[in-house]
Amino acid sequence: MIQEYDKYVAEDHEVWSILYSRMMEILPRYSSQAYLDGIQDVGLEGDRIPNFVECNAKLSKKTGWNIYVVPGLIDNKPFFEHLSNREFPSSTWLRKKSQLEYLEEPDMFHDIFGHVPLLANLHFANFLSELAGIALLHIENEWAVEILSRLYWYTVEFGLIKEGNGLKVYGAGILSSSGETQYSIDSDIPQRMPYDVKKIFQTPYIKDKFQEQYFVIDSYEQLYKSLPEIKSILAQELKSVAI
Ligand SMILES: [Fe+2]
Repeated sequence: MIQEYDKYVAEDHEVWSILYSRMMEILPRYSSQAYLDGIQDVGLEGDRIPNFVECNAKLSKKTGWNIYVVPGLIDNKPFFEHLSNREFPSSTWLRKKSQLEYLEEPDMFHDIFGHVPLLANLHFANFLSELAGIALLHIENEWAVEILSRLYWYTVEFGLIKEGNGLKVYGAGILSSSGETQYSIDSDIPQRMPYDVKKIFQTPYIKDKFQEQYFVIDSYEQLYKSLPEIKSILAQELKSVAI
């Protein structure tokens, strides 16, 4: 599949523009600097839907990643296969103007605006492809896939990072929602805990409301360097389940 760029109509570009400017009004304050740098690096702009061919030319030069077009949600196995090949699965459809607030399924705004900028960061980019490689080794084991999905959830989708004196957002699930972006940093309701692989493996996630807990990394390097720990704690978990 390819992105049929000429098929987007004026309303599509307008929806992108509304969503983009709504987020960019707050992200300089709330999001990780690496994410903001990534917006520039991959060339996302506010006035039109990004052209994947142009983004890929920039992104692949930085970290070897590419956007890979898929029709929508895909199964775990092809999902992790693409990630491990440094291909980020993205749909090409965008919500309509009447659906600006809520979506059942991630659209291109989530996939591209939320996920792609951070793929220009080498530590994060390497972490994600290697995490997917670990998932593929255990793809037939439902429990392994479940706990690795928790790790994906609490980092790639809903991760926070310490930067300077404060907390910033890097998770795509947060970065594609202005409400959760502000809530994740400013609200007293959620718990914010240091990144802890074992604890994340024990923490199921909720899908259709704001998170009740977030895990905070110190750096993207920390994520990358936790891969051996992920492997060894996963092996222990699987052993204890098998007994
Ligand atoms: Fe996502």
